[in-house]
Amino acid sequence: MDDQEYILKLRHDLHQHNYNYYVLNNPTISDQEFDILLRQLADLETLHPELYDPNSPTQRVGSDLSQEFETFIHVRPMLSLGNTYNKEEVADFYERVREGLAGEDFEICCELKFDGLSIALHYEDGKLVRAVTRGDGVQGDDVTANVRTIRTIPLQLPADADWPASFEIRGEILMPWSSFEMLNHEREAREEPLFANPRNAASGTLKSKQTSVVAERRLDAYLYYLLGDQLPADGHYENLQAARRWGFKVSEAMRKVRTLDQIYDFIAYWDNERRRLPVATDGIVLKVNSLRQQRALGMTAKSPRWAIAYKFQAEQQSTILREVTFQVGRTGAVTPVANMDPVQLSGTMVRRATLHNADFMAQLDLHIGDHVLVEKGGEIIPKIVSVDEAFITPDRGPRVEFIRHCPECGAELVRYEGEAAWYCPNESGCPPQIKGRIEHFVSRRAMNIDTLGPETIDDFYARGLIHDYADLYTLTVDQLSGFGDTRIRSARKTIQAIADSRKVPFERVLFALGIRFVGETVAKTLARRFRSVDALAHATLDELMQVNTIGAAIAESVVRWFRDADNAWLIERLRAQGLQLQLSEEMLAAQSDRLAGKTIVISGVFVHHSRDEYKALIEQHGGKNTGSISAKTSFILAGDNMGPAKLDKAKKLGVSIVTEEEFLKMVE
Ligand code: IVH
Repeated sequence: MDDQEYILKLRHDLHQHNYNYYVLNNPTISDQEFDILLRQLADLETLHPELYDPNSPTQRVGSDLSQEFETFIHVRPMLSLGNTYNKEEVADFYERVREGLAGEDFEICCELKFDGLSIALHYEDGKLVRAVTRGDGVQGDDVTANVRTIRTIPLQLPADADWPASFEIRGEILMPWSSFEMLNHEREAREEPLFANPRNAASGTLKSKQTSVVAERRLDAYLYYLLGDQLPADGHYENLQAARRWGFKVSEAMRKVRTLDQIYDFIAYWDNERRRLPVATDGIVLKVNSLRQQRALGMTAKSPRWAIAYKFQAEQQSTILREVTFQVGRTGAVTPVANMDPVQLSGTMVRRATLHNADFMAQLDLHIGDHVLVEKGGEIIPKIVSVDEAFITPDRGPRVEFIRHCPECGAELVRYEGEAAWYCPNESGCPPQIKGRIEHFVSRRAMNIDTLGPETIDDFYARGLIHDYADLYTLTVDQLSGFGDTRIRSARKTIQAIADSRKVPFERVLFALGIRFVGETVAKTLARRFRSVDALAHATLDELMQVNTIGAAIAESVVRWFRDADNAWLIERLRAQGLQLQLSEEMLAAQSDRLAGKTIVISGVFVHHSRDEYKALIEQHGGKNTGSISAKTSFILAGDNMGPAKLDKAKKLGVSIVTEEEFLKMVE
């Protein structure tokens, strides 16, 4: 066997092993054996770049090159389904179908409604050629590179199966509960924001710019709709059984039924049983099985007349309200929290529920001791839906009122125009606000002093060692270490990490200060435009608002922050400690106006610098980087493999294309 033949054989075998493992859950070789074969294939592919195949099993690991998405117009629009919430509405659907088919017999295919994001996969000659998100139903994002990393999606269909030469198959991309929990666990440890539910996590992942991130996150996919001109059968159910033979993951929870009662049975069974599934579901989908009958029924503007979704009720439980406490966040916003008798809900024990804000709380008209209905919808945090009125007695407990004063520092609360929340205005004296600001200051994307977690900060604050983040820089090893070697060692590490943070560049220091509305991007913009903290402190409202992307709210917040004498004092102490309060020499030297007024789109794969580096270069020289080509685009900085859709658009609009080398000459 020569190399080429061996590569083809390895690819074939590995596709089969992938299918056995991920779709059938029935591997026939060990993980180790699999890895050895994969390694062999990767090595051979490096030796033979001419045999590159985007669908090779080696492509499942993804790449960390940054990519962007082309839009793709769906061959057939991706419709959504009408929703029903009770038996009557399901019966109405059934009746409408019966009337629509003028007394003809029909079968209904009952399926689970998977709660992820829909995807359209296109196959030509047995190969995956394109994967597109739903988008607005008419056009979506081409996410093929990301989808190639999902192990349950076949890249190459088995040669001996009877698939049509060209077809589309649609389904749902999901993040299994187990992957979701692991991911949030890791994010918590890194102090990154958590995903509210597996659907958001899956969607965030699928839109990731790096395929390697998608590969790590372990997404799954169930397929539920086959489309094309030469399908195996007239039955939707039968077509999906065929798709399963071709290697697609098709749910086992599909039943063909004829009567309404059978539909109700299916719903009742899965309403409970779905808790045991590895992925999230939010209902049942009912489809007329015959494609001929589907065509006869047709569709409305938004959804087909031959299918409908039945949505499960979010699980509710009744429990007793014991107390309402009030939490103060980093910004001073006060959130009411209900404390209840523990109750089992959708697999977890629930004791607390957010009451969001004063208005939400008032609407519920809560009294201590009330029986309340708790529900867990699509979000992790449960909420109180209503008071169970059946239990209200004449000797009902006292009504819960929103507090007037901060529970932490006693300051009188204030409400800002247009906001639902009450705030504690005592920014410099209220402990959770002070600690919250320090936590933000040390966080990874700010000063990155990663040895300081919330508990340590709490401890230092309680011991009177720190009152604000400038105090961090005067801490000593002695102050931090009690007894024992480990404590001394960890104290040294902390002090070193704090010292190292003096090198953190100005734009991140600016973000770390915790000025309201000044996130990472705004901080970068401000740093580039004003170049030093002193210049920024003296900037007027008008000067700030003239900066691209800086609006009135941000500008006012910046001016207010620097006007505060406490903050001016903070800056002086940080300056004395040697923090970077202006752009570095290199950054200043590297700045120019060479690209001022130019709007530039980056597209393709680059050799000399990464996409992010080019983005930074554009900004450094006064240009603006945008995502999509329009009449306003000055030019496209194009690497290899620029998408055909983009090229077309550029030609139509007469936008010029600049190569990497040409661009580097421009800014040199
Ligand atoms: S069929 C024209 N089947 O629900 C019918 N959809 O609101 C096309 N979904 O966008 C959809 N499970 O993302 C179908 N078994 C299933 C489904 C399903 C989940 C999603 C899909 C669609 C949405 C409809």
